[in-house]
Amino acid sequence: MTRQIGIANQKGGVGKTTTAVNVACGAARLLGPGRVLLIDVDPQANATHVLLGVEVAAGPRRVDRPTMREVLNGDVSAENAIQPIELDAVTLKDGAQLPPSLLHILPSHLELATLEPILTSQFRGEYQLKRALQPITERYDVIIVDCPPSLGSLTLNALLFCEEVIIPVNPGEFALVGLGLLQSTIQQAREANPRLRIGGVLPNAMGRTRLSKETLGALEAHFGRIVLPPIPERVAIGEAHSSGGDIFAYAPTSDGATAYYDVITALFST
Ligand SMILES: Nc1ncnc2c1ncn2[C@@H]1O[C@H](COP(=O)(O)OP(=O)(O)OP(=O)(O)O)[C@@H](O)[C@H]1O
Ligand SMILES: [Mg+2]
Repeated sequence: MTRQIGIANQKGGVGKTTTAVNVACGAARLLGPGRVLLIDVDPQANATHVLLGVEVAAGPRRVDRPTMREVLNGDVSAENAIQPIELDAVTLKDGAQLPPSLLHILPSHLELATLEPILTSQFRGEYQLKRALQPITERYDVIIVDCPPSLGSLTLNALLFCEEVIIPVNPGEFALVGLGLLQSTIQQAREANPRLRIGGVLPNAMGRTRLSKETLGALEAHFGRIVLPPIPERVAIGEAHSSGGDIFAYAPTSDGATAYYDVITALFST
């Protein structure tokens, strides 16, 4: 069975892409080469930029390098747009070893933005991701979808393809207020995709502040056991993101890497 997990929150900058990249890279090492696919459906193409570089994310579009735009438009198969990324072996702070692996990524491109209004007006345009992925979904153990910071047709495409949503949340009450909107969108998507559920809420960029503790308490009271192990706010997590790598490759002995490993174990250990 393939786990199809969307990383969503319409609030910008809460750590969706950081979560998608680190969870995908960690899960790929845990589950084996070619077992994990990361899908970028955000026109900002940040996950693509981090893992494949700015040329793929924002350079001239090339027929020999198709991206999500061509896939959702029905021009090429998903299989033909997927690229492999080699991941090195790492040793974490507690001595746990993760073997080298291969992550698959279906990249995005800045010009995916021009497809969103077309998808909105198209008959069944919200099912394009599900349609495109159908032939290859079963090849993977885990598929992670990095969503844009909106509740538009690209996020809807992700919610109709996925079975689970993971919601990263930052300290602060605004984040909680915003969650209501995402939850009602998930509820609406469930009418068309009854399997969809909130698989996890990820407290991200947590500190020792009262605000962080209050947020964690509120999330636990509201969501109970689906609250994932918190990710601390760490410079290394931001640096890994901007240096074009995942936290395991960039700072394997950091407590940020340990925190993501705990999340991956919580999600994927049987
Ligand atoms: N735990 C953390 N510690 C430190 N920095 C973090 C952490 N999580 C995310 N960041 C930083 O915060 C910024 C926003 O993160 P990210 O791009 O993952 O958010 P996002 O929700 O995907 O944003 P968008 O809504 O624009 O897609 C990035 O610069 C990232 O490096
Ligand atoms: Mg993002």
